[in-house]
Amino acid sequence: MQFDVKTVKKYESQFASPLYVFDEDAFVKNYRHFEECLKKVYNNYKISYSYKTNYAPYIGRLVKNLGGYAEVVSDMELTIARKVGNEDKHIVFNGPCKESLLEGFILNGGMANVDNFEELKRILSYAKKNPQYIYNFGLRVNIDIGQGFISRFGIDESDLKAVFDKVKTVPNAKIIGIHCHIGRSRSIDAWKKRATKMIEIADKYFTRQPEYISLGSGMFGEMNPSLSVQFESDIPSYEEYAEAVAGPFADHFSGDDKPVLFTEPGTTLINKYISFISKVLSIKHIKGKTFIVLNGSKHNIGEICELKNLPIQIISESKNKENVSDADCVGYTCLEHDVLYKDFSGSISVGDYIIFDNAGGYSNVSKPPFIKPNCYMISSNGSIIKRAESTEEVICTYE
Ligand SMILES: Cc1ncc(COP(=O)(O)O)c(C=O)c1O
Repeated sequence: MQFDVKTVKKYESQFASPLYVFDEDAFVKNYRHFEECLKKVYNNYKISYSYKTNYAPYIGRLVKNLGGYAEVVSDMELTIARKVGNEDKHIVFNGPCKESLLEGFILNGGMANVDNFEELKRILSYAKKNPQYIYNFGLRVNIDIGQGFISRFGIDESDLKAVFDKVKTVPNAKIIGIHCHIGRSRSIDAWKKRATKMIEIADKYFTRQPEYISLGSGMFGEMNPSLSVQFESDIPSYEEYAEAVAGPFADHFSGDDKPVLFTEPGTTLINKYISFISKVLSIKHIKGKTFIVLNGSKHNIGEICELKNLPIQIISESKNKENVSDADCVGYTCLEHDVLYKDFSGSISVGDYIIFDNAGGYSNVSKPPFIKPNCYMISSNGSIIKRAESTEEVICTYE
């Protein structure tokens, strides 16, 4: 989203600084484009939006109104997805630590994917205690597609036969879906392998076919060229991802009861569409190094800033700018490693605004109340998405 001095000043007078701004129209356009690309190849495709990436209820509601499902990984996220108005049958419940909401969720027709044997035992014991109810659920499968590391999530492929056999001994329990998610594997080749492997598993263990197969997430979203050049590989288009992911499904499954194919995009849907506006508090020169001190923190823009420099815009009214080179833009915390942007070279002045684009994912939801409470988030259409937190709200749970 492009900003100018007038807009930024107006925002500051209304909502203080720093501030998150959500580009709602662009989000909706991207959402529709992404979904269309996948549906064109396999018409039984559904988005389940990853709440952990950004669970702002305003955004969850928008996704719901666009027809998307919710993907949640804790009782807290499930509660948010429900509050937003999602029915349980439109929620995918993943994660290694499902708490007291699990049983009710399953009985309401929600899609819970079992992560481990203890969770499986729990569900089977609910089923044995309540033979009058049906317990349908899915499995998170831990597959190897040559990703080069051992993931801790899900049930190992080698244990699947034992799991399916065990579930068959409980007449009112049934495995209806399978799920996987593989981190650090955003390439087309990795997605092709993931889709093919999950289809093989479906063929091997289901007499007919599963009701759903969720392939998790980990696709690149649209991004500004200043960010994409920082990745070693090219950024695939949505059309390329669609062919890789939905293509094998279209070739393999047909008929009215073909499985729903889910992916669980977070980053892909939200990252590019939230900007974080911070203000320059001071410019320091220490032992030959320049530091630009901001009123935001790396916690506001998420972990990605440890790996990449996010695209930035400098908004300035100053006539008195100084030229700096290889400066670190640092945050308000007392952490030496609170660096939002490394090696900035250009002209800058105290009072300027540095706007970080691509700050939508794992940002506001990962911001701890460390040293300062969190700030406002607004939509470009003027709605307030989150008001700023107060100190009172931060301390109110402490006795
Ligand atoms: C199970 C699961 N689904 C979805 C996501 C969202 O991934 P991304 O933000 O890359 O789209 C994650 C991220 O870790 C995940 O673990």
